[in-house]
Amino acid sequence: MKILGVETSCDETAVAITEFKNGQGKVLANEVSSQVKLHAKWGGVVPNLAAREHLKNIVLVLDEALNKAKINSTEIDLITATEGPGLIPALLVGVNFAKTLAYLWGKPLIGVHHIAGHIASAFSDENFNFQIDKKFFPLLTLTVSGGHTQLIYMKKPFAYKIIGETQDDAVGEAFDKVARILGLGYPGGPIISQKAKKGKGKNGKYGLNFPRPMINSGDFNFSFSGLKTAVLYAVKKFRQENNFGDDEKLPADFVEAVAFEFQEAVVDVLVRKTIKVLAEHSVQVVSLAGGVAANMELRDKLKKEVLKNNLNFYCPPMILTGDNAVMIAVAGYYQWQKMTIAQKKQARQNWQTLQADSGLKLKNN
Ligand code: KG4
Ligand code: ZN
Repeated sequence: MKILGVETSCDETAVAITEFKNGQGKVLANEVSSQVKLHAKWGGVVPNLAAREHLKNIVLVLDEALNKAKINSTEIDLITATEGPGLIPALLVGVNFAKTLAYLWGKPLIGVHHIAGHIASAFSDENFNFQIDKKFFPLLTLTVSGGHTQLIYMKKPFAYKIIGETQDDAVGEAFDKVARILGLGYPGGPIISQKAKKGKGKNGKYGLNFPRPMINSGDFNFSFSGLKTAVLYAVKKFRQENNFGDDEKLPADFVEAVAFEFQEAVVDVLVRKTIKVLAEHSVQVVSLAGGVAANMELRDKLKKEVLKNNLNFYCPPMILTGDNAVMIAVAGYYQWQKMTIAQKKQARQNWQTLQADSGLKLKNN
């Protein structure tokens, strides 16, 4: 079965084509047109600008995907699109585009939850072959992106139960805000992790010791806004004590030290909380997903702890950590497998009825 995926929830215009045979998936095309440079000027994603860019690019991205996959539209069996959550002007472009294709091509259409997509991305091997086996469940996944920080427990395939989440900022958002405080630009994650590498062990030199918020709270929730404030105060203090003006560029050595200590604090909390779940819930597999899953420190430390617990660990290949449409097509495939004949028939009418939903919730069934 060949599946087309469309993703426009934030600042990537993405179209992908995957093919599943006997439960094994492979990627025929993975096209992503990134708007990161455009939004960098504003220090974050501007929803209406994102929508305008999606409109400009989406037909071209589809054309490229069909060319790469060397197929034509008649060979597509199912269309999938990110239904939510995300920025509504951005989501509307992809959903309406997918509805138009479903109408013109006469294909079934289903809406996919963005986070369900990220979760599915962890089950690709380096050759972009996918397989999500029943024996992976119960599955625990840590989803960390610019908009989400959640521990999700799936007792059975694709029944999502959120057992913990951030009470304020998402992890990716914290990386982005700290990057701004340090004058490093947007997006913050990749640049902070680069600086952190050089800042290893330098935190002591500047007396940096950031809090690990909620690390010992009895639940599985997170909080990152206090950590961001701690970074802000440390930077203010440094400026005062060293007579640096508010807009003056901070010395590289100090920036690297802050980046290192901040990343350590984030990774400590994420790893400790995820591992704590294993003591209270029966788990077969632990996975990591979302844009922040590109962070090597987090990948390595979490993997090490999971393996110590004799469990398997999955995380997406680097190319699939950020937003893409492969993950939507793959999650869409598994969603389709769970649907009844009546629901599949109904999917043929979705070109009329599918709605973008910026606050879409994951389903626990
Ligand atoms: O999943 P994603 O592409 O978009 C959302 O759905 O939000 O995640 C983007 C987030 C950004 O906040 C970015 O700073 C963060 O992922 N990110 C990272 C790294 N690469 C991207 N955070 C930490 N370390 C990284 N290497
Ligand atoms: Zn995302």
